[in-house]
Amino acid sequence: MTAGGYAATVMQRCDVLGACSEEAGRLTRPFASQAMHKVHEHVTTWMKAAGMAVRTDHVGNLLGRYEGGNGGTSTLILGSHLDSVRDAGKYDGPLGVMVAIAAVQRLHDSGSRLPFAIEVVGFAAEEGLRYGIPYLGSRALAGVFDEVDLERTDAQGVTMADAIRAFGGDPGRLAEDRWNGGHLLGYVEVHIEQGPVLEARDLPVGVVSAINGQSRYRLIFTGEAAHAGTTPMDRRKDALAAAAEFVVAVEAEARKTDGLVATVGQLVVNPGVTNVVPGEVVLSLDVRHAEDKVRLERSDLLLLRAGDIAGRRGVSLQSETIAGTPSVPCSPRLAGLLTQAVEGSGYQAITLGSGAGHDAAVMAGITDMAMLFVRCKGGISHNPAESVTEQDVTVALDALGKFMELLPARR
Ligand code: GLV
Ligand code: MN
Ligand code: MN
Repeated sequence: MTAGGYAATVMQRCDVLGACSEEAGRLTRPFASQAMHKVHEHVTTWMKAAGMAVRTDHVGNLLGRYEGGNGGTSTLILGSHLDSVRDAGKYDGPLGVMVAIAAVQRLHDSGSRLPFAIEVVGFAAEEGLRYGIPYLGSRALAGVFDEVDLERTDAQGVTMADAIRAFGGDPGRLAEDRWNGGHLLGYVEVHIEQGPVLEARDLPVGVVSAINGQSRYRLIFTGEAAHAGTTPMDRRKDALAAAAEFVVAVEAEARKTDGLVATVGQLVVNPGVTNVVPGEVVLSLDVRHAEDKVRLERSDLLLLRAGDIAGRRGVSLQSETIAGTPSVPCSPRLAGLLTQAVEGSGYQAITLGSGAGHDAAVMAGITDMAMLFVRCKGGISHNPAESVTEQDVTVALDALGKFMELLPARR
């Protein structure tokens, strides 16, 4: 089969996985869900067809291993995530897993073994849709899963520990998920760019230089629920009005700090009734910047602003840090090999930063890490309109194959 044939299979498989959802008519695939079970069934079949031995770990990562030849004992990990945001596009995450499987399938079909093993990982939860916490799967594999998070509950009150149990894992044995397969050569993730750079440069793929850090917080404004018809405006403690003022302050602060992005993406208004002044608002805050110092300073400042707004309006504020990850540079050595591979495929290899988070940022804790971005139509992602072309996937697949040929079996 030609590289294009393998890329066509990648596209078809992303379509198949895109239909595995918890919600009719749109793609929503949280951690440890029924839809994720369905995805594991499909991906297991495809991994086995590519000659891989397949297993699931306790957190719910799906891992397929293609052994090396020539007595090679080192391993290259390829992967991305299989969960999604709500009303997602079908390429964010699954594309990287499907390209990795296709790369192995090519080796298998040609009867080749590289001098090292390849482990393809479909990570359990990178987005944090169900529990607000990103990177659950990669944290378990990298041995940095925080067991305190097991007691967190989802919107239905199900603890993470129970969700893991229901999916078939043992939350008491997550430490066993830590990589114990011997020497690692690196971790490489292919991912849709999710931004406009490659399209603007008219290039199919690009090599990532670094992954921006991110901070996630939960804030609760608590006022007083009251009758919408009888409570005079000057007697109200409207939690939503406070939250609204905060949302606009977040936007203003991010606009005036170069490179800062800050988002309130989730608001839960209680009691959420037309004729009741809102008594409580729970909201999320996501803050990112390439420089950790700027991210942390601006995050502190935003939390202070929230406190000021609450104080002025006579409502109270509680805030909690849900997650924080530093900016992580990609390995210059692996990025250099990816650059050589892209150029070997006949394309200019530009480097670009990642504003999005990726499991690669966590995997950098245990091995060298690099990423290859694939051009994304209109830079749109976290949106069902997310789109990549088969031609660009062909280039990514080809570059990944060349990268694996260039990678020394030992270092
Ligand atoms: C994942 O897509 C993230 O960057 O939040
Ligand atoms: Mn995403
Ligand atoms: Mn992603």
